[in-house]
Amino acid sequence: MQETTSTEGLGVTERLMPDAAGLDRAAALLREGQLVAFPTETVYGLGGDASNAAAVAGIYAAKGRPDFNPLIVHVPDLAAARALAVMTPLAERLAAAFWPGPLTLVMPRRADAPLAAGVTAGLPTVAIRCPAAPVAQALLRHAGVPVAAPSANPSGQLSPTTAAHVLAGLNGRIAAVLDGGPTPVGLESTILGVAADGVQLLRTGTITAEQIAALSIEVQAPTAGGITAPGQLASHYAPRARLRLRAGWPLPGEAWLGFGPDPEDQAQPRANLSLDGDLAEAAANLFACLHELDAALPAGGVIAVAPVPEVGIGAAINDRLRRAAAPRS
Ligand code: TXA
Ligand code: MG
Repeated sequence: MQETTSTEGLGVTERLMPDAAGLDRAAALLREGQLVAFPTETVYGLGGDASNAAAVAGIYAAKGRPDFNPLIVHVPDLAAARALAVMTPLAERLAAAFWPGPLTLVMPRRADAPLAAGVTAGLPTVAIRCPAAPVAQALLRHAGVPVAAPSANPSGQLSPTTAAHVLAGLNGRIAAVLDGGPTPVGLESTILGVAADGVQLLRTGTITAEQIAALSIEVQAPTAGGITAPGQLASHYAPRARLRLRAGWPLPGEAWLGFGPDPEDQAQPRANLSLDGDLAEAAANLFACLHELDAALPAGGVIAVAPVPEVGIGAAINDRLRRAAAPRS
């Protein structure tokens, strides 16, 4: 176990290895009501005991997150999910098909669910996710409490796919980070609102609308007044730099973020999401590339981004790019 000292004097964030001692420590901290960042297969989450009102308030404070934006509750298995949400037969089918995995289901909250009110920001629904990553599974089983976890970044900034990204944004604001290496999927989970006769796609992810439709489940457009994801604000996942999307090549002074073969005249700094044009590889690399280019550019710099096809996982990649490029609120 290494310790990292805060630069802001807010506290000390422990860096824990995902071995037996590290998992013990992380689980004990969660049960005490402390905040622990941990890797899931999608991105790192900022975890706190979802049944503990002080821990949940601490999550909002550490991230600087507006209190109208509810949190996802993480559970190790289906039985734990059924204790928190009313799972319809449709929800059960989705869980059977995709859990554990990068899918979040928004369902009616059970009246007797042991959840602090702040988790759901006053909504009658609760978002539940059962992650597949072994470190997340081990931590959830060990902690024995439902774990509320938004992405482990200051509100509105880029999501973290490494422990170093977590510390860059939250060092000194959380008790510990479990370092499980880079997260393999790289984009946040697909979020579905489960309605009576179909689902609403509230956030795109690497589980695609096509995969859900393949189960003969109707994917409906989100309706006004229906279930919405309050966190889906236009400007989100924002780097310091500005993004110029669907660029053919970089203009003088711009950084370059490629997809597929790079143009001959190559800017510096530059990165490539996938030289082979592989969308899953591009998803896994997206936030790390943006973190890297952002750190290398002077304030106000511009990143020119190659076009990414709007097929399959490409829809989720383009969603994150559009939000990163949107004017800041
Ligand atoms: O992959 C992920 O989902 C990651 C990892 C850590 O699990 N978590 C994550 O959390 O991306 P966060 O807080 O960054 O995004 C959660 C989204 C927000 O857009 C929020 O509005 C939505 O889930 N959400 C949470 N509860 C909801 C509810 N009851 N109804 C509708 N949307 C909800
Ligand atoms: Mg987030």
